[in-house]
Amino acid sequence: MTSARGRIEVLHGVNLNLLGERDPLHYGTLTLAGLETQIASWAAELGLTVTFFQTNAESEYVERLHALRGQVAGVILNPGSWTHYAYAIHDALELTGLPAVEVHLSDVQSREPWRRLSVIGDLCLATYSGKGPDGYRLALERLRDALGEADS
Ligand code: DQA
Repeated sequence: MTSARGRIEVLHGVNLNLLGERDPLHYGTLTLAGLETQIASWAAELGLTVTFFQTNAESEYVERLHALRGQVAGVILNPGSWTHYAYAIHDALELTGLPAVEVHLSDVQSREPWRRLSVIGDLCLATYSGKGPDGYRLALERLRDALGEADS
C-alpha cells in the first residue's frame, strides 16, 4: 500500500468544475485547473503531496471518501452547495476518521441564509470561508500542523 504519510486529497464538489465562469464577485476568476496548480505549489512548499477530485454526483463524492480511508493523511473539502444539506457527506467523512478542513472560496456567512449551515463543520479542524484561493493554503497549513502533532 502507498504510504498515507503527508498525502492530502482536495475534494471539490458540485459546480466547482465551472470556476472561471461562476460569479467572479464570489468566486474570483481562476479556473479549477488554475486553482489546483496554485494549491499543488503551496503543498510542495509545505512538504505535502496533494491529489484532487471533483464530481457533480453526490454518490461519487461519498464513494471517494470511502476509498480514501487509510490512503491519505488528511482531506480538504469544498463540497459546494452540498455543504449546506448533504448529511450523507457528513456521515461518509465521519467514516473516514481523517483529519479534515472545510474551505469555501466565498464568504458563506454573508450570503443567503441557507448557506450559513454546514453539515460537515462539526467534523472539521477548521473552516476557511471568504478568503478565496488563500483558504486552501490556510487549510494545508492547518493539516500540516495537525499531522506534525500526530507524528510527534
Ligand atoms: C462554495 C459556497 C457554496 O455555498 C456554493 O454553493 C458553492 C461554492 C464556495 O466555495 O464558496 O458552490 O462552497
